[in-house]
Amino acid sequence: MENAIKNYEDVDSWKTIMFLYNSAIKEVGTKLEILNDEFQHVHQYNPIEHIKTRVKTPESIVKKLRKYGYEISIENMVKYVNDIAGVRLICSFTSDIYRLAEMIGNQSDLKVLSIKDYIKNPKASGYKSYHMLVSVPIFLSDSVVDTKVEIQIRTIAMDFWASLEHKIYYKFEGNAPEYISRDLKECADMVSTLDEKMLSLNEAIRECLEQQEELNESAENKKENQQDGQVLQGLD
Ligand code: GTP
Ligand code: MG
Repeated sequence: MENAIKNYEDVDSWKTIMFLYNSAIKEVGTKLEILNDEFQHVHQYNPIEHIKTRVKTPESIVKKLRKYGYEISIENMVKYVNDIAGVRLICSFTSDIYRLAEMIGNQSDLKVLSIKDYIKNPKASGYKSYHMLVSVPIFLSDSVVDTKVEIQIRTIAMDFWASLEHKIYYKFEGNAPEYISRDLKECADMVSTLDEKMLSLNEAIRECLEQQEELNESAENKKENQQDGQVLQGLD
C-alpha cells in the first residue's frame, strides 16, 4: 500500500495531534540514544549526559497562541507552535553540542527546519543553548505525517543556569528587578567561563593520558628489545 503524505492541516483531532507529537518524541529519543550508543561503541565516550523530553501542556499551547495573537485552533497550533514536542539534550562540553548537532543534521530522515545558535549569539538574559527545529516522519498504517520537534542542546552548566533562571523568571512573571536580571547575567558569564575551563581541562587530561600511553608503550618496547637481546646472547 502506498503511503500518502498528510499535512498537519489534514489531521484535525486533538487526540490524533497529541498522538503524533508523542510518537515524534519517541522517534527522536530513540535516534539520539542510538547515536549516543554508537559513539560509545566507536570512541568509548558518551556525548549525551541525559535526555529530557516533554509534550507541551494544552494550557501552555493556548497561552503561546494568545501571545502570538492567533486564534485558538488546532490548525494554528500545529502551524505556529513549534515546541509542542520538545527534546532536551544535556552534554558535558560545548564541543559535544556541535558534534551532536552535526550528527542530528546528518540523519537522512530528519528535516532540519531551522537552527538558533544561542551559544554563538546568547540572549540578552544570558541564555545559552543550541536549538534545532526538526521534522520527523511518523509512519501510520495508511499515511506518513511529518511532525515537528524542538531539540535543545546544552551543557550541564548551561542547563543549570537556564533551570534556575526559568524559576526566578516565573516567580517575577517576567518583571524581575533590574539588579536580579543583572546578577543572573553575571552568573551566565560565570557559567560560560566554567564551560570553557572544563573544556580546556578535558583537552589537557586527554593529552596527558596520550603522552603517558606513548611513554608506557616505548618503555614496553625497550623492555621487549632488551629481553630479545638476552635471548640472542644466550644462543651464542
Ligand atoms: P518562545 O516563544 O519562548 O518559544 O520563543 P521562540 O519561539 O523565539 O523560541 P526560542 O528559541 O527563543 O526559545 C524557545 C525556548 O528556549 C523556550 O521555550 C525556553 O525553553 C528556552 N529559552 C529561551 N530563552 C530563554 C531564557 O532567557 N531563559 C530560559 N531559562 N530559557 C529560555
Ligand atoms: Mg518555547
